[in-house]
Amino acid sequence: MAPLLLVYSLLFFLLPRSLAVPAPELAALMAMKSSLDPEGRVLTSWALGADPCDGGSFEGVACDGMGRVTNVSLQGKGLTGRLPAAVGGLRSLTGLYLHFNGLSGEIPKEIGELSSLSDLYLNVNNLSGEIPPEIGNLSNLQVLQLCYNKLEGSLPTQLGSMKKLSVLAFQYNQLAGAIPATLGDLENLTRLDMSFNNLFGSIPTRLADVPLLEFLDIRNNSLSGNVSPALKRLNAGFRYENNYGLCGNGFPDLEICGSPDLINPNRPEAFGPKNHSTKDIPESAKVPSNCSEARCSNPSKSPQASLVVGVIGTIVALTVIGLFAFSAYRRRKQKIGSTFDTSDSRLSTDQVKEVYRRSASPLINLEYSSGWDPLAKGGTGFSQEVFESFMFNLEDVERATHCFSETNLLGKSNFSATYKGILRDGSVVAVKCIAKTSCRTDEAEFLKGLKLLTSLKHTNLVRLRGFCCSKGRGECFLIYEFVANGNLLQYLDVNKGSDKVLEWSTRVSIINGIAEGIKYIHANKGKKPAIVHQNICAEKVLIDHWNNPLLSDSGLHKLLADDIVFSTLKASAAMGYLAPEYTTTGRFTEKSDVYAFGKLVLQIIIGKRNITPGMWQGAENCKFEDFMDPNLEGNFSEREAAKLVAIALRCIQESPFCRPSMENVVQELSRLS
Ligand SMILES: *[C@@H]1O[C@H](CO)[C@@H](O)[C@H](O)[C@H]1NC(C)=O
Ligand SMILES: *[C@@H]1O[C@H](CO)[C@@H](O)[C@H](O)[C@H]1NC(C)=O
Ligand SMILES: *[C@@H]1O[C@H](CO)[C@@H](O)[C@H](O)[C@H]1NC(C)=O
Ligand SMILES: *[C@@H]1O[C@H](CO)[C@@H](O)[C@H](O)[C@H]1NC(C)=O
Ligand SMILES: *[C@@H]1O[C@H](CO)[C@@H](O)[C@H](O)[C@H]1NC(C)=O
Ligand SMILES: *[C@@H]1O[C@H](CO)[C@@H](O)[C@H](O)[C@H]1NC(C)=O
Ligand SMILES: *[C@@H]1O[C@H](CO)[C@@H](O)[C@H](O)[C@H]1NC(C)=O
Repeated sequence: MAPLLLVYSLLFFLLPRSLAVPAPELAALMAMKSSLDPEGRVLTSWALGADPCDGGSFEGVACDGMGRVTNVSLQGKGLTGRLPAAVGGLRSLTGLYLHFNGLSGEIPKEIGELSSLSDLYLNVNNLSGEIPPEIGNLSNLQVLQLCYNKLEGSLPTQLGSMKKLSVLAFQYNQLAGAIPATLGDLENLTRLDMSFNNLFGSIPTRLADVPLLEFLDIRNNSLSGNVSPALKRLNAGFRYENNYGLCGNGFPDLEICGSPDLINPNRPEAFGPKNHSTKDIPESAKVPSNCSEARCSNPSKSPQASLVVGVIGTIVALTVIGLFAFSAYRRRKQKIGSTFDTSDSRLSTDQVKEVYRRSASPLINLEYSSGWDPLAKGGTGFSQEVFESFMFNLEDVERATHCFSETNLLGKSNFSATYKGILRDGSVVAVKCIAKTSCRTDEAEFLKGLKLLTSLKHTNLVRLRGFCCSKGRGECFLIYEFVANGNLLQYLDVNKGSDKVLEWSTRVSIINGIAEGIKYIHANKGKKPAIVHQNICAEKVLIDHWNNPLLSDSGLHKLLADDIVFSTLKASAAMGYLAPEYTTTGRFTEKSDVYAFGKLVLQIIIGKRNITPGMWQGAENCKFEDFMDPNLEGNFSEREAAKLVAIALRCIQESPFCRPSMENVVQELSRLS
């Protein structure tokens, strides 16, 4: 580039002044030529030495009286290259017309340097990537045509700073995210077409009030919420079909907001532990089935949506009550059939010590029919190699934890206790002790579960070192590598200045790591089947020395009795991680993990366990000051934050079919910076 520039600078001085195109512009034109037309078939008239302003030499180029390039019109020329960053060098450009070509690649951010540009036509090409936010610097732009490309990501809020805009066309792309409320600032906007994209959220009220708006097309998106009555004035100029979450008064085809058709809060409890047949779901309950039927509303705070959220809240509450009732029932039943007392606290320390004293022979099997003996290799379905590498004996475990000394107790749940320990080789581990009464009663299933746990290996999952079962103690032990820096919950709701305040970049990398971990467990890879985590929450994300996140308890539900699994849901439900469809279907899918992930992302960004309605609103409108963790003191990337919020909001769409897969999420995250 530098030598070229030198040549052009020389040319600039040699050519008669009145005719000369400034050297940087000439350089920009030549760079555009080679990029737009890499095969050199189309722009043959763009030749070094010719004058771009003579009205013939440079096809499609027009200049002003000062010899500055003002117009490049190359529409429908069969260009197959890319729009280069060098376009930013054409400082006097007012019109750039490149529509009806086959251009690919991204729109360069340098486009924002064209401060005189009034018309930008890039429609009907194969452009991909995101609309650069720098486009908002085009303060003289009046027409922006980007329709019929393959653009992704969300609409930048900066679009609202182009005050002269009158036409905005984005239809037929793959844009996602919310409609920026800043579009409501465009006082001269007359036409806005966003149809046939993947936009979601509500129509900003401010947009409905744009005075000159004549045409608004939002067809075939996933928009939801109340449609402002102000849009009625557009008559046929307002097109909104195929957005299943929209409602409004006085629009044909739209339901009136607030009609409680979605779920009937009075219906009986829908799920049971064993039988999830659809018969359990009363006729009146409209189970969201997929995007073409379900109302794809995100939890926006429009009146209609809040009603839905409220109803869901009731259902979750009912579920929690049901869970309590059910697990109490199961516990009572268990007491009768078991000599081993398993009342509320399955592993009180006293109990543990008592059992320890009683156990004469430390290494005995769980009481399975065929007498599973961990030492009798073979017959377990494990390969010898896996078996040997994962098998621990009780002595190892006791030694590691100093006989489960209370000083080593890391935590307890209603079915397990976890102790810190040091193995003979010096490595630090966490030993999870699960009462055998909490384990699956079918030996084959339990072994299958163990085998599954040994097959999980990923940098973002807590690594299982081994396991061990003891009849004497009535327990099964899972030995995991120890993760030093606690769980993510401890990093939420922290005080300013605490060393637990995570930096923005750390938050982003934690979100990435969690996504990778979940993607891995959802994938079917060789010996590892696809599984659903079922209990993703801040507490299950452990943080290591390098602030990497590690998911814990993946696959654990495969070892546990059903009612124990259900009892763990109480906590998820209370924390808002439980996907709404669970209450109607009683089933977990990958998409319920995605839902929990979405919640987690918001918690990480906001830095709090509880997300208040004000924060929701702030997040949806990208009003960062309303929701970003003040502990960040403004040290975050708005671009990244906006994208993370957009991803999170997609993950917590009400209908599971409208949520992205974890693979999609990972892809989107990779394009974050
Ligand atoms: C710029 O190009 C457009 C499209 O080809 C054309 O309509 C317009 O008149 C041109 N303007 C100038 C100043 O040449
Ligand atoms: C875009 O690319 C696809 C192949 O990737 C091609 O079939 C199509 O014709 C291209 N569209 C345009 C407008 O060039
Ligand atoms: C252009 O836009 C970007 C991003 O929106 C912004 O950071 C930058 O300051 C703007 N540049 C100018 C010259 O306004
Ligand atoms: C809107 O358009 C009118 C008429 O063309 C013009 O006078 C006014 O300056 C424009 N407003 C803005 C913010 O550009
Ligand atoms: C728009 O949505 C309707 C209803 O879901 C669907 O039948 C139609 O195919 C969609 N059109 C496009 C181009 O996606
Ligand atoms: C599950 O439901 C089906 C159909 O309603 C019934 O035939 C079956 O016995 C039920 N199974 C259990 C375990 O309740
Ligand atoms: C969505 O619904 C349609 C029609 O009810 C059905 O044909 C299709 O298989 C469903 N898709 C999924 C992913 O369930």
